[in-house]
Amino acid sequence: MNSPELLETALANGHATETADGLTYMSGFGNEFATEALPGALPVGRNSPQRPPYGLYAEQISGTPFTAPRGQNKRNWFYRIRPSVVHKPYRQIDPRLMRSTPFSEVPITPSQLRWDPLPMPTEPTDFVDGIVTMAGNGDAAMHSGVGIHLYACNRSMEDRFFYNADGEMLIVPQAGRLTLRTECGVIEVGPCEIAAIPRGIKFRVELPDGEARGYICENYGTMFRIPDLGPIGANGLAYPRDFITPVAAYEEREGEFEMVAKFQGGMWAADIGHSPLDVVAWHGNYAPYKYDLRRFNVINTVSFDHPDPSIFTVLTAPSEIPGTANCDFAIFPPRWMVAENTFRPPWFHRNFMNEFMGLIYGEYDAKAEGFLPGGCSLHNCMSGHGPDAATYEKMTTAELKPAKIEGTMAFMFETRFVCRPTKFAMESDLWQGNYFEVWQGLGKTFNPNAR
Ligand SMILES: [Fe+2]
Repeated sequence: MNSPELLETALANGHATETADGLTYMSGFGNEFATEALPGALPVGRNSPQRPPYGLYAEQISGTPFTAPRGQNKRNWFYRIRPSVVHKPYRQIDPRLMRSTPFSEVPITPSQLRWDPLPMPTEPTDFVDGIVTMAGNGDAAMHSGVGIHLYACNRSMEDRFFYNADGEMLIVPQAGRLTLRTECGVIEVGPCEIAAIPRGIKFRVELPDGEARGYICENYGTMFRIPDLGPIGANGLAYPRDFITPVAAYEEREGEFEMVAKFQGGMWAADIGHSPLDVVAWHGNYAPYKYDLRRFNVINTVSFDHPDPSIFTVLTAPSEIPGTANCDFAIFPPRWMVAENTFRPPWFHRNFMNEFMGLIYGEYDAKAEGFLPGGCSLHNCMSGHGPDAATYEKMTTAELKPAKIEGTMAFMFETRFVCRPTKFAMESDLWQGNYFEVWQGLGKTFNPNAR
């Protein structure tokens, strides 16, 4: 779909890559990209010529204030068949099980919380309708905090489009692939990959496998970025070039379509007579991307002790307080464990930050059972947690030879504010009311006479 000349140039510059799913992407986190689906569609030397090529309309989308410092400034220029203003008025629609903070549906408990996976829907349900909010914090209207959602869907969005004015959406598939047809181009993403769609970017979701399930972090705050590496150096963790952004691709479709918007916590729909995915060319740095979690370069100890899990940070969304993320996205991928004279799983702990965890596949090394792929857990501020009794027993007596944790991918949304669960989270059958029992077998082993 990209013009051959531009693609050739991009490939020559090392800025594009062809991937196995047959789609073309451009490489690099937060790069300034330039891409066109028709040759010459992108104006040269100016953003808003009097008459753009092919009779296209020029339109800017800004993801930050115009005056944001250059390093954080985000904007795109779109060259599209119709400007975004062309649609009928919005009407409020049923948000179903999607919630937006602040909400206060049920009391918030300091207890450890865990849930079974969301079942696949029995009725035809698309990606937007299949979103179920589990927890959230902060205030979407204040650009602070996150909404944490699950999704389960079995119907492709064909004539329905969505954008989220409240936040950026970090999508973590657990089962089934998603084809994200966005204003900027097409992304295919599946389990062990993630995709991020910036605030306001329109998209629709097709389901190549018929159904799909996963997790969403709706980040109301500053956009996710790859973290600073400090003494780790210039390399390590997620490499910038492994974040890939689609080349321009457009739909020229007329019909009776629905444009759905999440705006100030509410869900709204407008009739629209054409596909809004009609961007023929674009340039800028405000674009969706995907990343394969299997490419994460894991840093860990080669001497002793379990480092703090911040070493597993893939993306961070900073707040105004240094080192205090609005949200970090961390993963627990396959890795070698070699620490000597060390209790190797995560230690017992109580933290300032609030931890929502999910499991993509396999088994998490701190929990022997009950934490299922597609399930989730929430350990809020200062709530004690750690390895379950079975894991503690096993790992305090295990032989400490080098061992590889294989066949697993867990992740965490770690956020500065306490996450308040929704009524659905606390009252559905998914909630594991007996979760506390996993630690009750941790008996007293203290003996003042045996050092
Ligand atoms: Fe924890």
